[in-house]
Amino acid sequence: MEVVRDRSALRIARADLPGPVGFVPTLGAIHAGHESLLRRARDENASVVASLFVNPLQFRPGEDFERYPRDEPGDLERFAAAGADVVFAPDVSAVYPSGFTTSVDVGPLGAVLEGSVRPGHFRGVATVVTILFGLVRPDRAYFGQKDGQQAIIVERLVRDLALFVEVVVCPTVREPDGLALSSRNVHLTPEERRAAPVLVRALSRVDEAYRSGERDAERLRQLIREEIASEPLASLEYASVADRETLQELQVVDRGALVSLAVRFPSTRLIDCLPLA
Ligand code: PAF
Repeated sequence: MEVVRDRSALRIARADLPGPVGFVPTLGAIHAGHESLLRRARDENASVVASLFVNPLQFRPGEDFERYPRDEPGDLERFAAAGADVVFAPDVSAVYPSGFTTSVDVGPLGAVLEGSVRPGHFRGVATVVTILFGLVRPDRAYFGQKDGQQAIIVERLVRDLALFVEVVVCPTVREPDGLALSSRNVHLTPEERRAAPVLVRALSRVDEAYRSGERDAERLRQLIREEIASEPLASLEYASVADRETLQELQVVDRGALVSLAVRFPSTRLIDCLPLA
């Protein structure tokens, strides 16, 4: 596995890779969720490129950029074990050279849900993903379903800007008690960790109600609110049952939906989501 640190080294390494090329962009802190993306990329492509870059543009001042878990040697071992051929691990100036001014605005899709709580977050994600796609020129790129809004935004970005990358959205990997794997789980105290499966319980209640025929989106959102209210350490930031294309809140779920929620615990905030077919 080759580790490259700047744009020109990546371009040279990329030129030697047989296609198709699968790409797994990450912020590092690699866990079994990322490994499932890497394995899928390995199965479906002749070559696999991964990136390891904590992108400052997608964190607002006061968010957890500084304390985002970082372990480059451990991450590189995991990338190698999962079969990556090339890892792009740049510093900030290699991604955003001096004088950099361009950004990618994803419009209304970036203003709701995570975007309403973290303004500018998806501008940062879309900008770095566009740069990474330009450098790696992947045939396929792999994203986790857990960040459901991000996956929808990247699909739209690729379509709108004609980037010719197949976006592959892979199932959320969960702990045995249902908690979605996330790099931020390490911040949970033991007590919060015991409480955290409340997110997946809320989603399961929505799923059960939907399977039993409930189509009133407000009633489905109410189930999430009730479940989160039952856990004293958890406070709900949003509960959403939204259209999968526009991410606008639905009244009636008649063409599927993305159900998502964000919950704040004293030491960190967690998100989870569930697509309804
Ligand atoms: O989901 C992530 O890890 C990040 O948002 C991504 C896609 C690597 C962009 O920095």
